[in-house]
Amino acid sequence: MNFDQRTVTCGQLRAADAGKTVILNGWVHRDRNHGALHFINLRDRYGITQVVVDDDASPELQSAASELKMEYCIAVTGTVRLRPDTMINKDMATGEVEVKAEKIEILSRCATLPFVIDGADTPNEDLRLKYRFLDLRSNGMQERIRLRHDFIKAIREYMYTKDFYEIETPTLIRSTPEGARDFLVPSRKYPGKFYALPQSPQLYKQLLMVSGFDKYFQIARCYRDEDARGDRQLEFTQFDVEMSFVKRDDILNLMEELFGYVFKKVMNYDLPAHFRRIDYYDAMNTYGCDKPDLRFECEIKDIKDIIEKSSFEAYKTILANKGFAKAVVAPKTAGFDFTRKYLDEIAAAAKTYGAAFVPFIKVGADNAISGSAAKFFTGLEAELCQYMGAKEGDVILMVAHESWKKCCASAGAIRSKLGKDLKLIRPGFEFCWIVDFPLFEYNEDEGHWEAAHHMFSMPQARFIPTLEENPGEVRGDLYDMVCNGYECASGSIRIHDIELQKRIFRICNFSDEEAQKKFGFLLDAFKFGPPPHGGIAPGVDRMVMIMAEQTSIKEVIPFPKNSFAVSPMDESPNDVDQKQLDELKICFKLDEEKK
Ligand code: AMO
Repeated sequence: MNFDQRTVTCGQLRAADAGKTVILNGWVHRDRNHGALHFINLRDRYGITQVVVDDDASPELQSAASELKMEYCIAVTGTVRLRPDTMINKDMATGEVEVKAEKIEILSRCATLPFVIDGADTPNEDLRLKYRFLDLRSNGMQERIRLRHDFIKAIREYMYTKDFYEIETPTLIRSTPEGARDFLVPSRKYPGKFYALPQSPQLYKQLLMVSGFDKYFQIARCYRDEDARGDRQLEFTQFDVEMSFVKRDDILNLMEELFGYVFKKVMNYDLPAHFRRIDYYDAMNTYGCDKPDLRFECEIKDIKDIIEKSSFEAYKTILANKGFAKAVVAPKTAGFDFTRKYLDEIAAAAKTYGAAFVPFIKVGADNAISGSAAKFFTGLEAELCQYMGAKEGDVILMVAHESWKKCCASAGAIRSKLGKDLKLIRPGFEFCWIVDFPLFEYNEDEGHWEAAHHMFSMPQARFIPTLEENPGEVRGDLYDMVCNGYECASGSIRIHDIELQKRIFRICNFSDEEAQKKFGFLLDAFKFGPPPHGGIAPGVDRMVMIMAEQTSIKEVIPFPKNSFAVSPMDESPNDVDQKQLDELKICFKLDEEKK
């Protein structure tokens, strides 16, 4: 098709261009007809330029302009001119100029829009996802996709300068247990057999280390058949890294330098040279979770000692049963009342994590206390307030539970709620490392230990001789990178000793035969001089979501699934033709049930 091809973009023209003849290609963003004058805001990826059809325009031009509707794709030929002083728009990069149209060519028309691009009302999510190709035209989505691009580009730039190879690994692989459920792909050539889509390139990157590619990275697609949440999708992208001959600090230092470079380059934001390192148990005790938001304080305190001195029998019983008691101070906040209703909301938030109720103490003048638990602390008022650092107008909120994790998590839920509701959260990005996680977690449902991260992570040396005696105490060479309350990367130093790897499999309930069946290729590779190695994988979607200050990763993924794991646009997952199923020799139990 012949058309007037652009000579400039819609974000390019400035005052110095006045007098030039230009051609613009783009979409009609807004179209305003002011009597004789016709203003068209023309948009492309680079910006918006105002086009004007003057009242002295030829009848052909007037007629073409009058046909225009929102989102028509057009070509405009015209002359750049300065806007009158009173019409300069400082909010637009091109706001000093406009283009006096001399010719308008309609390149394609637009059907009735399901929603206005950048309109006053935000369309509902399913409509946005159904017409994602239109939603992506919005300023917000364009900005976020640009951010995503810049982020990945900066990562690549940095990694290339550090001599890493970018290596692709397969996406049709053997199904191996890695934590979540695999997506399976039936094989046509071998009916009844399946490939799996990788949950991450974990085993392949370890094999690349065995092959001698000692500095590897990849922007890798990963697939996990799990429920979608605000920060999770079925299909996501990891920035996957592995290195040989390294210790933990080499990886942590590399990531700190890399994210420092990326944040400066992409957002002109200065990160500290090093991120705080917090022991897993300290994070749980102080923040109530292993991905703390450090943009506000409200630290959790253990109140065992003071409970023991008090007459709070319900809590004393929990402590006597080897339980735990903790408290958080809600700071006095201008314009915010700690009403009964709000305290009930706090209790409800804690309850989801296990705390049966949330006793509270309001602090008045001179350490006078009131509230549901005040009567148990008669004579201990000053000690309690001083220990908690609570001042007049603050409220002390308490939780207790027999389980340490549930006690921490309940207090953590209160802390998070206070952070949001009392607007305690500072702007910006606060990174930290959570280190020294337990290597194993007990799976109550299945009655055995399993890997807290994955089975290839190295136990810390001091635990190796006695791993089997008390797996719950073993700490791993594990680390998570956390930012603003999100886990954005996980990694570990890996096992490279075949015997140690087999011991870990056994603790995780995999017999030697089963381990050989499922992970034989890794165990075989470990017979051939594997180097000491370790790695990490930041989640790209999650990092970009944090950088874009969004709370849903769908906002930074071009074509995401909705929370029902469906794409409203292409309607996947969908039925397939019987012929395809026949080729794969697949029939469904579902069909049997229908019969
Ligand atoms: P892990 O499973 O912790 O570790 O994943 C690493 C990072 O990937 C991101 N992530 C996700 N993002 C969006 N949707 C999901 N469903 C999702 N799941 C994970 C998170 C997370 O921190 N192989 C190991 C890494 C390693 O040890 O090197 C792994 O995959 O940001």
